Amino acid sequence: MNRTYIEDLSRHVGQTVELCGWVYSKRSSGKIKFLLLRDGTGLCQCVYFKGECDETSFAEFEQLTQEACVFVTGVVKEEKRSPGGFELSARTLKIHSPSVDYPIGPKEHGTDFLMNNRHLWLRSSQQHAAIRVRAEIIKSVRDFFDGRGFTLIDAPIFTPSACEGTSTLFETKYFDEKAYLSQSGQLYMEAGAAAFGKVYCFGPTFRAEKSKTRRHLIEFWMVEPEVAFNDLYDNMELAEQFVEYIVQRVLKNKAAELKVLERNTEALAKVTAPFPRLHYKEAAEIIAKENLEFKKGEDFGGTDETIISSKYNKPVFVHHYPAAIKAFYMKEDEKEAGSSMSCDLLATEGYGEIIGGGQREDNLNKLMGKIKEHNLNPEDFGWYTDLRRYGSFPHAGFGLGIERTVGWICGLSHVRETIPFPRLYGRLRP
Ligand code: 4AD
Repeated sequence: MNRTYIEDLSRHVGQTVELCGWVYSKRSSGKIKFLLLRDGTGLCQCVYFKGECDETSFAEFEQLTQEACVFVTGVVKEEKRSPGGFELSARTLKIHSPSVDYPIGPKEHGTDFLMNNRHLWLRSSQQHAAIRVRAEIIKSVRDFFDGRGFTLIDAPIFTPSACEGTSTLFETKYFDEKAYLSQSGQLYMEAGAAAFGKVYCFGPTFRAEKSKTRRHLIEFWMVEPEVAFNDLYDNMELAEQFVEYIVQRVLKNKAAELKVLERNTEALAKVTAPFPRLHYKEAAEIIAKENLEFKKGEDFGGTDETIISSKYNKPVFVHHYPAAIKAFYMKEDEKEAGSSMSCDLLATEGYGEIIGGGQREDNLNKLMGKIKEHNLNPEDFGWYTDLRRYGSFPHAGFGLGIERTVGWICGLSHVRETIPFPRLYGRLRP
């Protein structure tokens, strides 16, 4: 039998094919029965006409329950009213395995219930669409950097030291030593940049953030490019080209998924480089006028980021954050004491920060001073400071969080729906 996927039906019009999948829904009216079949690649209406289909199959139809696994044969027809534009004039139906009392129905369910059933919830159309968009984003990340001569350098997951502060470190045993799950591959990318020029890593990173917010995951995926001889401004240029590429590619290739998600794509269509750039001090002025609790010199919270992004119809860079609120490796601007050569990118429509990065401190003495200031153990950073001993070089890079990017592009209000199996504070299962 000519077994095919629903997404490939256009190639089989007029042919008899077999579809394998799960019952999405069904309805009957006398001599005609409709099965909406889901196979992971799409939905297809299968129509059973009494007299035209196998009689046993017609009778078996009554036993179908939501998410039962079925094999169906029939003739492919074009039908505009069917979800994918094709319908099956069904001939046979085989129930491969039943599904009794499937817990997720059309009625409203609470978030906790859905998260406990995440392994099943993934089959629902909106979850399915978001994960397909995620896959496209991941592919576009790789294509962007691979197509521009970057070398992929995988960073280790077990690390001996902190990159992004010690408060969110996940400690684990590494035989007789203490190790931490990676918070960022950046330090290793700096070594990579000295060896290969333009590099990136892309993998899971971990932060023991004891907070339940709509933007924080415990385990999230980050892509981190690092480029030798780039400064802060080159870094922002690379980041804006990268973000434009991802957004425009998803708009082109995943329009159907964005429709399922009911995403208004007007704002996304305008995401083209260059993006506006604001000095931290300018941004802080704007925020202070609207948020009376904000103190200049502090990092921005979600509300503050929304204040800034609401003023622009493109993502906006904020650069030159105070060095005191940034990580130890950030270069201080020689022309502006106390300001770091850092940049964050805030997404449109209040979705908040999706990129953090900047130019790295390349002066050995200054870097050693920062390591001590941040109460880090210089011994842990011996290999890292070597990069400043042996041909130190100006360089810059950034990290883009995949889940926040998926959330923004899909228009989702919480990062829990942007990754197949989210790890959140208080949630390790399923
Ligand atoms: O600003 P962050 O902490 O920067 C770094 O880790 C740098 N070492 C990256 C670099 O320069 N190579 O994180 C970068 C991005 C954030 O903008 C955000 O998108 C995401 O990573 N991110 C998180 N996403 C989900 N949950 C969390 N807990 C996140 N923490 C950071």
